[in-house]
Formats: sequence, structure tokens, C-alpha cells
Amino acid sequence: MLLAPNLLDQVNSEMVLSKPSALVALVSLSITNSLAWNHDDYLHSPTADEIPHPSADGRGWEEAFGLASDFVSELTLGEKVLMVSGVHGPCVGNIAPIPRLNFTGLCIQNGPLGLEQGSYSSVFPAGVSIAASWDKDVAYERGSQMAAEFKAKGAHVLLGPVAGPLGRSPLGGRNFEGFSPDPYLTGELFTQTIEGIQDGGVQACAKHFIGNEQETQRQPSENEDGTKIDSVSSNIDDRTMHELYLWPFQQAVRAGVGSVMCSYNRLNQTYGCQNSKALNGILKIDFGFQGYVMSDWGATHSGVTAVNSGEDMDMPGTPDYPLFFHQNLTNAVNNGSVSSDRLDDMLRRVMAPYFHLKQDQDFPPIDPSMKELNSVLFSTPDEYEGQFNYTFGAEPNIDVRGNHGASIRRSAAEATVLLKNKHGALPLKDPKRVAVFGNDAGDFTNGMSVWWFNGVGNYEYGVMATGGGSGSGLFSYAVSPLDAIKLRVGYTKDALVQYVLNNTAILEEDSPYLKALVPWSSDVCLVFLKSWATESEDRTTLASDWNGDEVVEKIASTCANTVVVLHSAGVNTMPWADHPNVTAILAAHLPGQEAGNSIVDVLWGDVNPSGRLPYTIAKNEWDYDFAPITNSTELLKTNDPTAWQSDFKEGALIDYRHFNHYNKSVQYEFGYGLSYTTFNMSRKLTITPLSTNGTISPFPPSAPIAPGGNPSLWDTLYEIQATVQNTGEVAGAAVPQLYLTLPPHENQGEYVEATNILRGFEKVRLDPGGSKTVTFALNRRDLSHWDVINQEWTIPQGEVKASVGFSSRDLRARGTFTVIP
Ligand code: BGC
Repeated sequence: MLLAPNLLDQVNSEMVLSKPSALVALVSLSITNSLAWNHDDYLHSPTADEIPHPSADGRGWEEAFGLASDFVSELTLGEKVLMVSGVHGPCVGNIAPIPRLNFTGLCIQNGPLGLEQGSYSSVFPAGVSIAASWDKDVAYERGSQMAAEFKAKGAHVLLGPVAGPLGRSPLGGRNFEGFSPDPYLTGELFTQTIEGIQDGGVQACAKHFIGNEQETQRQPSENEDGTKIDSVSSNIDDRTMHELYLWPFQQAVRAGVGSVMCSYNRLNQTYGCQNSKALNGILKIDFGFQGYVMSDWGATHSGVTAVNSGEDMDMPGTPDYPLFFHQNLTNAVNNGSVSSDRLDDMLRRVMAPYFHLKQDQDFPPIDPSMKELNSVLFSTPDEYEGQFNYTFGAEPNIDVRGNHGASIRRSAAEATVLLKNKHGALPLKDPKRVAVFGNDAGDFTNGMSVWWFNGVGNYEYGVMATGGGSGSGLFSYAVSPLDAIKLRVGYTKDALVQYVLNNTAILEEDSPYLKALVPWSSDVCLVFLKSWATESEDRTTLASDWNGDEVVEKIASTCANTVVVLHSAGVNTMPWADHPNVTAILAAHLPGQEAGNSIVDVLWGDVNPSGRLPYTIAKNEWDYDFAPITNSTELLKTNDPTAWQSDFKEGALIDYRHFNHYNKSVQYEFGYGLSYTTFNMSRKLTITPLSTNGTISPFPPSAPIAPGGNPSLWDTLYEIQATVQNTGEVAGAAVPQLYLTLPPHENQGEYVEATNILRGFEKVRLDPGGSKTVTFALNRRDLSHWDVINQEWTIPQGEVKASVGFSSRDLRARGTFTVIP
């Protein structure tokens, strides 16, 4: 990420010649190989002069690239500039139509869990719920259903999925939009989502690239005397960068993602959208990305510098944000500071995915209701009508939901993580007297967007079915847990569903509200807790909101069968987890519009939960202090424009890698989750090398870069098989997980390598007594370390330890193999 000038001399010229990106990607040895993490090593990122922009050549999209080139050759300079500069319009982001060429423009809409501004559209489970499903098919299905809805509404680009933040700190406000702090789990689900979206004819936008790990100071601020204080700088060493934060994005490029959104933060001191090392060097040269880099909204901080550093499209480009493109870009091209070749390259990059996904053929017009919804937050029609000729459909409010509600209900139920189930408390045995507690159990009280309207953020009453921000959704309906419970218990003789939904009332001393429940001795007490998170701010606590912990303690102090359900944006500490009266705990995350039905399906046993934790639940909040959110009162008052620095000193050791390395006990480990059935696994692993000629080179054989990098990174070199059996009474799904410990890298220095890292998982549905052999395919990258000196993935010499189990700490079958003797 950083060019250390003193090390330039150490690059041997041969390497530079044979691997052009090696020079530009050189990093400081002292950083990457040292535990003595030195902040001063991060004070320079290479400029566009050091890493010039590479032109796309359409690799992988040859036909579409030809069409894009023809299209671009028809454009005037004014039209070209307009096509890379956002304008006001009916969507969150808009590229203006060019009727002369039958181009109806690009409608760009949020976001990662469905149409943020869509009437009669679905609110799908959030990324964190998909991560908890550990189910690649579910990720693909959600992607394709979202695409169907976007396309039917006339939206060409879906702003998602998210792999940045990855989730370095559990307090990160946007972690829920992405998947998991584990790059492998995220990489698989991110890619499946992209494929689902793009197979449906809609462009995905992989965001936010890169190092966008906190919301606090994500954008520059101004202090009292008017000094501009820069965004936080995520300072990340090159090895951690490749092995963690870039990992999923490299796969996204391989999957052919149409666009990538550059992020608000600075990365090693340079803003994400003008970071030539990240955009030109890594994304476009090393990964061979052929699509376009779109700025996050207002993340552009320069014109010429950003364009030459790799940004291809400025969003939203409207006058309410600083305007760096538009006329400024025209001037830059006219005076030669941006070459006309570069401008044409930007356009070909924008148009290639459009033609590749056949968006030029019968793409539906924009649903006029979107312009109404958009005007609540972004552009009002008088800002663009008459100026741009958008194409609207005849009828507003077309219903695009199809039968997606059924998949949402099923996938969210299956993704629920059963953390505790004492004496088989769940599934419920048809209880007649059910007491429901907690402010998460009921309906929304403040409208159908949990984010749009002032004061609704971290709303006190109503189920937490999604988080806030652009990764939120506008509900066309939402099923609350209480509604679904009432329906399930039924209004029959002896049935009793009683509830107190106000946490404050529950916690009142000697609470009359509790006393008045008749009879108090319910068969089961269901306590619903929630934890809010949103774009623009980080979480301030990992405890459940609205005094959730106290509510559990209070109910469990008298109710011997207390079942706790959490609707939460991510990690919650659970000081009451071992309370003897807390008989079951379910982490239901952010399940989307069918929240109540999904959880009732699990509680009553219609669905056997098969979610697994996509992160670690530690014992205490401070156990995560190794990767803090950068913030302080001094920083908030600083006069130093570059004061905000977030040093990723923990390197690769985030989440379970940290807890395992330091051998710390946790409440519930990464990959953990129970089922209503039990599973067993054979002790034996079958490990098979697939190499035909018997020798595998440490470095990938040199080859022209394709999207995703050197194509041989994706060659399967080994297969590992394990057999799983359902040993219980009911059907259910197991999630066998493969963890590898690679031999240390010879250039490791003092870099602390993680052990037992996830490198495979499958969801296996089994009937009682059924068994299945699962095959994990390991490709070259899975077996490699990132070598900062050679700027290449390299397979280390020595013995690889493989373990397969049911969580990161429940490893049942082990084996070893040697790739490079
Ligand atoms: C967010 C993006 C989003 C964009 C458009 C930004 O503030 O960071 O994720 O897509 O707004 O709403």
C-alpha cells in the first residue's frame, strides 16, 4: 500500500521488468515484517505519476467492450463528460440519458438488502443474516431476487453488496451491511451475491473500496476556526491488506463485478477515491478490473488527481456536493491534464458492463414512484425535469415482490443461530400460556423506514428487522414477532398471549405491568432484544439497546423458562448467557420483512435453525479492544488536519484469529451454532492432490492477468473430504467448516500469522440418519501467503494442517499434507 522510497533501491530490475506491478506495489519491509508497528511508515502512498492509470482492454467482456468502444466513438466531449458525472434525477445516482444514441441513462439505486427507495418491493435479510446462514445458495438467491426487483423498477445498478467494512471492530456501524470479519466467508457470500445480481441483468457495485472500517470521521469535518480536518486514515500493511481486506474484492473482480465504489476514508494517508495504489495499482493492474470505479457519495476530493488515480465516475455529481467533474473535467481534458484517452477509457469502463448485461435491450423504464420517493431524500423533479429526458413507465408503484416473501421467511429462519438450548427448551411444545417481553417484539410505530425520518434511528418500539442508512429498506409490510406469535398460539380456549413491550415499564421497580400478567407462571417467557446500527455512526456499545440486559435479568429472575431472541446488527455481549433460567438464546440478526414469521417458524420448530455465528461473541466488550474505533475528545477538537489515524496494528489478528492466537476463552466462538438435531463427523479426512504433473511451484506460473489476477490463483490444487451424519431425530442442516494452518511464510519476519483460518464451508441438509461426504476444494490462493517482497501469492514450504469441524473451536477431523516439500 505504501511505497517506501528507501526501498526502491532494493527492487531488483529483473523483477520490475517481469512484473510491472511489483515496482508500484512495493511495500516497506519494516512495516510488514515487523511487530514494532511504526506509524511513520505509513506517511506516503504512491501518486498517479508513480502508478499511471492502465486502460481497460475488455478482457472477459470482449464483445461488450467492442460495443462500448463503438458507442464511445459516437460521443461528443460534452456527452462524454456527462456520462461520468452524476446529475439530478429520479434515482439515488443518475447518469443522464442521451436520446440521440437511444441511451436512456443509468439509474443507480441503494442498496445491499433491497431497493432502499422502492414501493411494493421487498426488504431482504441484511448481509449479516446471510453471513449467519453460511449458505452460498441463499446468498445467490437473494442476489437474484433483488436483481429481479431492481430491474422491474428500471434500476440498472444495485449499490451493493458490501465487503468493506469487513468488520475489523464489532462496533463498526455498517458491519451489518457486509457479511463477516472473516475474509473467506465474506468472499464466498459476496461473490455469490454478485453473481445472483448480475445473472439477473443488473450491475452490482462492490463497495466500499477500501479500508472503510469505521463510520466515525469517515468524511472530512471542519473545526471551529474553519480548518478542514481530513477523514480518518486507515493505515494497513500490505500483507494484511491482501490477506484480509482485499481478499473478497479480488474474488468480486473475478466474478465480473460491473463497478466498485471507492470509499470515504483515507487509506495510508490518501483518500480512497484518489488512491492510485489502491485503484490503479491493485484493482486495475493487479486484479485486472475492467469495470468502473464509482465514487461514494461526496467521496471525490479532486478532479484531475482522482481521474488519473483511477476514479471513473463521480457521484452524485450534483451541485449540493463539491463539483470536481462536469465542466472541470471538460477543462482538464481541454488543457491536457486529463488525456482524452483516459476519458475514453472511463467511458468504455462504464459502458462495457452495460452492454455485457444487455441493458441496452428492453430494459424496463423507471417506475415513476421512485422519483417521488427519491425526492424525499435526494433530487426533486424540478431539479431535473426539462433538463434530462428520463424514461418513465406508464404506471407507478408496480409490485415487484413476486413470491420473494416466502424465500425471505425461510432463509431468515434458517439463518437464525441457536446459541443455547438447555434441556431441549426449543422447539416449543405447543405452549398455551406465552408471555412476550421487550420493545423489539411489536410493530413499528414510526413508519415504514427505520431510517429516513428524523428520530426513527434506534427507534424504541418495533422489531429490528434491518439497520439504518443507505443499506436499509422501505418496508411494504413487516411482520412483528408478536403478531406472528398470536397467530401461532391461536385464539383457542386456554390460550393466553400476554405481553409488555415497554422496557422501561418492565424495569420499573415492583413493576405493576408485570404483576398484572395473568397468570404470571407462563409456559414460556419470550424476551425480544434489539441492537441498532446505522451508516454514519459507529455503535457505542455491544450491549443490547434499551437496557436489554436488565430486561433479561428481570424476567429470568422469576420465569424459569426464559427464551431470549436478539434482533441485532451484529455482536452482542450476553452477560446473562449462563443464567440457569435462560433456557434458550437465538441470534436472529436483521431478518427483513418476515421477521416475526421467521422467528416463530424457529421457535415452534417448523424450521430447524442452521445459522452459525459469522463472528465471535466474546465475554466482555473490552475483549475487542485490540481493534478499536478511532475516536477521542482530543480528536474531535483537533486543529491538525491529518490527526485522524487508525493504525491497523493487529494485522491479521481480528475476530477469532485474535482469540485463538491469545488462547482466550469466549462466550460463543466463530462458526458456532446448535440445531434441533445432532451431527457427527468421521474422524478421517481424505486429502487428495489434484496436480497432474506432481509438482507445484510456490509462485503461480506467470500468465497474463485476467479479471481476478493471475488465473492460476483459482486452480484447485487439493480436495479435502469429510463425512457428516445426522445422528438425531429430525432433519436439519450441518455446516462443516475447514480450517487450515499454513506453514509460516519464509519472509514472515515478525509478522504474526493466524492459525486455523477458515478455508472452506458447506451447508449440508440431512434427514435423520442420513450422511454425506463433503468436498472442500482448495485453490492456490487458499494455500498461499501474500509475499510483500515478491508482491505475489506464495505457497509456503512444509506441512499444512487441516481440521474440519462444526465451529472454529469444535474441530473433529484432522489431517496434514505438504504442497511444497
Ligand atoms: C453510502 C453508500 C451509498 C451512497 C448512496 C453513501 O453515503 O456510503 O454506501 O450507496 O451513500 O446513497
